[in-house]
Formats: sequence, C-alpha cells, structure tokens
Amino acid sequence: MTNDKMTVWITRKLSRATEDRAERDYKVILNPEDRVYSARELIEGSRHCDAILPCHSEKFTREVVAKLSDRVKIVANHSVGVDHCDLDAFEERGIMVTNTPDVLSDATAELTFMLLLCAARRAGEGERLVRSGNWDSWGPNLMVGKQTTNKRLGIVGLGRVGQVVAKRARGFDMEVHYFSTSQKSSNIEEGAIFHESLDSLLEVSQFLSLHCPSTPQTKGIMSAEKFSKLPDGAIFINAARGDLVDEEALISALKSGKLAAAGLDCFRQEPGGNPELAELENVFMLPHIGSATVETRDAMGFRALDNIDAFFGNKKPGDRVA
Ligand code: DGY
Repeated sequence: MTNDKMTVWITRKLSRATEDRAERDYKVILNPEDRVYSARELIEGSRHCDAILPCHSEKFTREVVAKLSDRVKIVANHSVGVDHCDLDAFEERGIMVTNTPDVLSDATAELTFMLLLCAARRAGEGERLVRSGNWDSWGPNLMVGKQTTNKRLGIVGLGRVGQVVAKRARGFDMEVHYFSTSQKSSNIEEGAIFHESLDSLLEVSQFLSLHCPSTPQTKGIMSAEKFSKLPDGAIFINAARGDLVDEEALISALKSGKLAAAGLDCFRQEPGGNPELAELENVFMLPHIGSATVETRDAMGFRALDNIDAFFGNKKPGDRVA
C-alpha cells in the first residue's frame, strides 16, 4: 500500500499546516465549512475513505462503529481523549484507533493554571465589572480572592497533563498532592505527595484539579459526597472532561460556599455549557479550549498524520489505543 492511493477523511477544519501536509501525502476529503457530522453522515462518509482523522466532536458509538465501511482501516484521532470512541467496538471491528498524547500537555496545563488563577482571583467578575462600565469605586475589600502561595493543590491523575500542572504549581509555591491509580516514581513525583485514595486527597486539597480521562470508572467521580470532603472554601478546576463531574452537586457546592470558586473548561453539555453554572459569579468558564494554541493544533494534526503514515507504511503507530 502506498500513501498516495489512500484517502484520508478529515472530519473538521484543522490547522492549515495539518491540511497542507495531509494533501501533500494523501487524497484528502476536507470539511471547509467545519460542520459537525451526524452519526448517519459518519457512516455514509466512511464509504469513501481508508482512514478517518476526527476530533472529539465526532461520536463513534457502538452503533456507528458497527456500520462503518469495511474500507476504513484506521481512525486517527486529533485528540488525546478517546471517550467519544467505543474502543471495544473498534477492537471487535478490527479498526485501529490512535490518539495524540504528549503534544497538548503544555497547552492544557497552561490553561489549567489560567483557570486556577482566574477562579482564585475572581478574574471573570472583575472583567465583567470593568467591561460593564459600572466600576465606580475602589476599596481594600473589592474582589478579594485567594492566593496560591503555600497552598495545597490536589491533582487527580498525575499523567502527562497532571505532571506539567504540578510543575507549574511549584513555580507558584504550591504544595502538590496527587491521587493516581498507582504511585509514580520519584523522578515523576518531584516531591508531590501520593494519596492512596481520592478521599484522602480531597481532604487536603485547598485547590483541586482533575486530570484523569473519562472512563466508566471515572465518570461522575466528583459527586456531592466527594465535594463535601474538600476543605471549606476550596477551589475546583476541570480542564479534563465534563462528565467527570456531577454538575448539580458542583452548583450546590458553589452556592453554599463549600467551594469558593470553580474554573471550568469542560461541561457535561458541549457545546453550550450549563446555564445554571453561567448564573454564578464565582465560576470562571471557557469553551473547551485547553489545547487551542497555534503550536499545539499543528502538533496534534501532525501527530495524527504520523499515526496514519505509520499505519499505511506498515509500521506500528506510536499512539494506538485500540
Ligand atoms: C483532547 O485532546 O482530548 C482535547 O479535549 C481536545 O479534543
């Protein structure tokens, strides 16, 4: 098999560099209008390609995977998260699935820190006040927030992104604690304190940030019971996945003062978010843009293409997840 005979379907509008490289090496079907395809369109479109290069916006449920054309041999995701793909169904169909780890860790950790700081220092409220033209007085009690210095940051999942967040946190003089499926080696921990249970981590986390994937085991991991274990006035950050969180429980915790604030880049409903969260002043929100930098978008596209190149070049793609 040679590349130039293969057709790659890129289901969303990607970076210019990614699309140029794909067109150099493959026959390519693009989506210049950047429409999100329905299940029916994914199934129909699969008849015309050998590889699909989708984003997390395309939902490959068991039903969709069952009906994909036999022609499709690889789904090379432009995302590190693969919760939009039924991996068991792909395994059963013998269609390879890859993701894009590593290349978005810095961008996502950077945005995590932005959420953390903006939530802690009430940046959303402040920005809205100045922008509204209603900022008519200043006093020492105006928008007093929380400081990171010497505070404990709890990280759920010390994987690639979690590790970069921990590194950034050290620069802000935070003490890093974490809960992961297993204790990491000391060169990864770099002084971070391991907790054998999530509850034990929650009890010490003045700031808590989620960095685990969404799996059947982690969905809804932040329930009312878990929020109640945090210290009063904690700050909650989520730049991982919306379905890790019971949003009703989050809203109650934000309203009661159990949480001082939250910084969120992910929601159960995307796009759109949660209108009830949007009513709360102490929530700083962004529209799932953790990896949205020029550098990282190119790197994600290139990583997905590297996986396709390896596959059609009869090599093992580095990022196989199914
Ligand atoms: C990811 O890579 O999983 C990000 O959420 C963007 O899709």
